[in-house]
Amino acid sequence: MKILAVLSNKGGSGKTTVTLSLAVAAVEAGMSVAVVDLDPQSNSADWGDSREADSPVVVSAQAARLGPVLDAARENGVDLAVLDTAPRSEEAALKAARVSDFAFLIARPSIHDLRALRYSKDLLDLAKAPGAVLLNGVPHQGSHGDEAEAALEGWGLEVAPVRMSQRAAHYNAAAGGLTAIDYEPKSRAAEECREVLRWLMARKEMAD
Ligand SMILES: Nc1ncnc2c1ncn2[C@@H]1O[C@H](COP(=O)(O)OP(=O)(O)OP(=O)(O)O)[C@@H](O)[C@H]1O
Ligand SMILES: [Mg+2]
Repeated sequence: MKILAVLSNKGGSGKTTVTLSLAVAAVEAGMSVAVVDLDPQSNSADWGDSREADSPVVVSAQAARLGPVLDAARENGVDLAVLDTAPRSEEAALKAARVSDFAFLIARPSIHDLRALRYSKDLLDLAKAPGAVLLNGVPHQGSHGDEAEAALEGWGLEVAPVRMSQRAAHYNAAAGGLTAIDYEPKSRAAEECREVLRWLMARKEMAD
């Protein structure tokens, strides 16, 4: 079983959207997938309750219970566990990063998100966890994404060459327990989720 942590200190950067989108993309690719919601806001778990499809499995857990929860997932044949985390919760994020094979640091290309990522980089260093920044909510037009990427690389952060743009499909899908892949399978939003998953699963850290 491979474990992906989805982190960012900043609220609203898109952790839950990325978690659920990648989980559904992995289900679509034939994997057995569990989402572990470590956020007391329980956005992922609520999404799971409103979802009609049985997969991915979504469980709510406290960071202190992460070990047993992941053991149970492993015993149940889960291929990929995706950990959705809370903002401003360094201790839980550190625990998530420590057990993960790879971490995505989620940031919108805004100065506030980018500043918050400095903390997340320290956290990855502390956890000795490999990871990369995934830019989310990138405007279709303009150079915001490229400027953010250049700034982050200047701080020594790896930035994934795949991105998730600002797309209404993400927002519209969430209320019905869906993701962009379920809601508009042929949309650019859906295709970007698949591209991010393919990039992730091609990493040596995520290989069997
Ligand atoms: N790429 C995107 N395009 C359009 N809307 C998006 C995108 N990413 C996230 N959103 C929307 O932005 C809002 C915040 O996203 P989300 O809940 O995923 O962030 P979060 O980091 O999990 O927040 P929190 O820190 O509160 O857990 C949601 O309404 C979501 O639908
Ligand atoms: Mg969230």
